[in-house]
Amino acid sequence: MAKSHSQFVCQQCGYSQVGWAGKCPNCGSWGSLVETLISKDSSETKTKSRKVGSPKPISLSSIPSRRSARISTKISELDRVLGGGLVPGQVVLIAGEPGIGKSTLLLQLADKIGNTLYISGEESVGQIKVRADRLGIKSKTLRFLEETDVDAAVTSFDSEKLAVVDSIQTMATQDLSGLAGSIGQVRECAFRLLRIAKEKNIPLFMVGHVTKEGTVAGPAVLAHIVDTLLWFEGDKSLTLRLLRAVKNRFGPTDEVGIFEMEDKGLLPVTNIEKIFLSKGNTYVSGSVITSILQGTRPLLVEIQALVVSSKLPFPKRVAQGVDVRRLELLLAVLIRRCGLPLYEYDVFVNVAGGIKVTEPASDLAICLAIASSFFDKPLPKGSLALGEVGLLGEIREVVAQDKRVKEARRLGLVRPITQREIKYVNEAIKKILK
Ligand code: TYD
Ligand code: MG
Repeated sequence: MAKSHSQFVCQQCGYSQVGWAGKCPNCGSWGSLVETLISKDSSETKTKSRKVGSPKPISLSSIPSRRSARISTKISELDRVLGGGLVPGQVVLIAGEPGIGKSTLLLQLADKIGNTLYISGEESVGQIKVRADRLGIKSKTLRFLEETDVDAAVTSFDSEKLAVVDSIQTMATQDLSGLAGSIGQVRECAFRLLRIAKEKNIPLFMVGHVTKEGTVAGPAVLAHIVDTLLWFEGDKSLTLRLLRAVKNRFGPTDEVGIFEMEDKGLLPVTNIEKIFLSKGNTYVSGSVITSILQGTRPLLVEIQALVVSSKLPFPKRVAQGVDVRRLELLLAVLIRRCGLPLYEYDVFVNVAGGIKVTEPASDLAICLAIASSFFDKPLPKGSLALGEVGLLGEIREVVAQDKRVKEARRLGLVRPITQREIKYVNEAIKKILK
């Protein structure tokens, strides 16, 4: 029979120590006591694999290089996020709020790849069948297993092309006394699944639910274990879903996959360049288009501003999708460097499409949108504002500027306004809006 004990595990950084309780000695955040396995008498793999004698380090040149071929998922946006496809034995945790579409995505993936073992601890096979019918999946090579015992699940791994565990929080081992979903269980189950995936060289997807605070149960604990952590997010009331790589041992972590949830499942969005632009006429005062980077690709977004005369001693500054402090800084520049009397006006700034813009590259667009609303004059058709604005009112170059300008040109925005054309914001306002 296996023995277990409780040890301290930090929820933030994953630090663990036996005989400790309280704040994490490593990062200072609160941790909790987690049930952990000590040993298993007979088939203990640790002792089995321990070799006699001292270990010998080897030189880098003596390690044979292996370029393992990637397995395409046949879902373009997923391939992009994974960095070109799956690596044999890769363990991926896909985390997101309930109802966001994790099971849908994985069922579609299983259908595309074929020969998949789908272990469901969450839904019955009947429920999966309903979803599969809805998605139009008829594949005969998918095998489903309703199981919550991780040790039983592990024995059903054979020589599949892909394995899916939905979700890791429903799995449990009888070696631990904690309930399924406790950090100890989640960690131990993830370990066991990972071991079998690596042993058999089968790529494995695990679903992880996100708690109310926006963390995967035992976030640091699982993030340390898996090769890749994907975050599935989006506003459930809208159909748009973003898939981000938060950690990836086999690829970049700055890529974003964009999907749309339709009646027949998740569809990769291909014409994403314009997705965040408001439909119809954008050539009204207060609207300026800029380009932001999502991963390595530029996205066009529309910054909207409204300037209204105020009777308040402290005029309102309302920002949606942009940082309100950044807005205040830019307003100070507009007041002091460009002479706009905005201290007598309420200013509202919004990014169309509900997307968040965090890059300083959108500074110039925010300034021009405010000025455009103030003078009630739209920017010329086809304008693209791109630049960081400094406290002196100077316009600065941004990362991947050429790429963004080129991409925008392709989509009909042929009038870039950047530091190359104009050096200062006040000059830009004078030239374009007065
Ligand atoms: P689901 O994949 O079950 O989410 P998760 O596994 O992350 O909890 O997705 C559930 C939601 O997706 C549900 O609200 C219905 C919606 N949906 C569609 O809009 N179209 C579809 O084809 C499917 C299968 C689900
Ligand atoms: Mg689900």
